Amino acid sequence: MYDIIRKKRNGEELTDKEIAFFVNGYTHDEIPDAQAAALCMAICLNGMTSKETVTLTNQMACSGDRVDLSKFGQLSVDKHSTGGVGDKTSLIVAPIVASLGGKVAKMSGRGLGYTGGTIDKLESIPGFRTSLSTDAFIAQVEKVGIAIIGQTGNLAPADKKLYALRDVTATADSIPLITSSIMSKKLAAGAHSIVLDVKVGSGAFMKTPEEARILAESMVSIGKSCGRKMAALLTNMDAPLGRTVGNALEIQEAVDLLKNRRKGDLWEVCVALASEMTMLFREITEEQARVLVLDALHSGKAYAKIREWIAAQGGDLSFIDRPALLPQASVIFPVLSPKNGYIFRMDAEQIGSVASVLGAGRVKKEDRIDHAAGIVLSKKTGDFVQQGDVLCHLHTNDSSKLEEAEKRFLDALVFGKAEPPPLPMVYSTVR
Ligand code: URA
Repeated sequence: MYDIIRKKRNGEELTDKEIAFFVNGYTHDEIPDAQAAALCMAICLNGMTSKETVTLTNQMACSGDRVDLSKFGQLSVDKHSTGGVGDKTSLIVAPIVASLGGKVAKMSGRGLGYTGGTIDKLESIPGFRTSLSTDAFIAQVEKVGIAIIGQTGNLAPADKKLYALRDVTATADSIPLITSSIMSKKLAAGAHSIVLDVKVGSGAFMKTPEEARILAESMVSIGKSCGRKMAALLTNMDAPLGRTVGNALEIQEAVDLLKNRRKGDLWEVCVALASEMTMLFREITEEQARVLVLDALHSGKAYAKIREWIAAQGGDLSFIDRPALLPQASVIFPVLSPKNGYIFRMDAEQIGSVASVLGAGRVKKEDRIDHAAGIVLSKKTGDFVQQGDVLCHLHTNDSSKLEEAEKRFLDALVFGKAEPPPLPMVYSTVR
């Protein structure tokens, strides 16, 4: 291991054998954290060639269980978001795609820090089971077209250890390490087609479209070289996506969109992602896919599919039909605008942390979350507001948190005299 660290520190390319030695040894606790951290830092500073990144990704993907979706052939399709604030796209996109014949066998994560997680959102629906045996998982995908469960303990265990190590050693933001982390889990999860939603902006890992494009190109090329059909959309995360941040609130917004009650930024990103997934698994053009996706929404097919899916996983459908029954906070507090002007900028990361303060998120992995807590935005970037207008409502069951949450929320906004230039929701697509 000492020689491998020194080689990477000197900027040399590691062989397949050396990378396999590291991944196997670290996964099986035969290499200490200190040496793994030193190698991560050397990779951070000196990068990896695409050959090294492919090997690292494959070795990590093979470090534990792999899901076999081969019985679905071309139809299995997955999506992955690099993480944002108010990102409930999986809850919307999966039913659209499944209503068009796609097979979505998805493993999702929980929220940590300022970003939310699909599994926490689903757990706000009483009865919903986020853990299924492999046989039940596959059988549900076959019958309904969707199953979304928490990541099983032994999927890419090398990533589990490395991700935790990177988090505390300032080695998280390295393109080859992010690529191998995300793609190892996606490859092990087995889908034939994978669409990545690479978030860009104040609420994302990647702050500029240029940085995001480099990461997207790296992940798409690794996926293709491992035989998968790949695409990545670079999407805007300068403001929270949609109008809600928080678990039950986001379920409600997702259901409303599927009932055709909402358009806007969230709708636009979901239609783009669902179209890209449909293009890949049906082998049709972008225009053809978009027509199908819009029809799935307008005809109610996608809404019927979310009901079928939630019921199949044990969720009580009365909460989907009447989302007002979902957990509600005891305190709903309006935040008022301190001045007249345009909302020029919103710091999405800071707004994500406000939702955490209110109880919607975790600071540490073991923290319990309050499914009812969160934020409902009344105004977003580009809106003109008068002093005293409601900017958002804070939802919480802990009123002692309101003062800090209100202050942080207002600190996250920049007001201006002029209207800010509009930014696209989808910057570009990497195929
Ligand atoms: N998400 C992951 O799973 N891994 C990373 O390294 C970054 C985001």
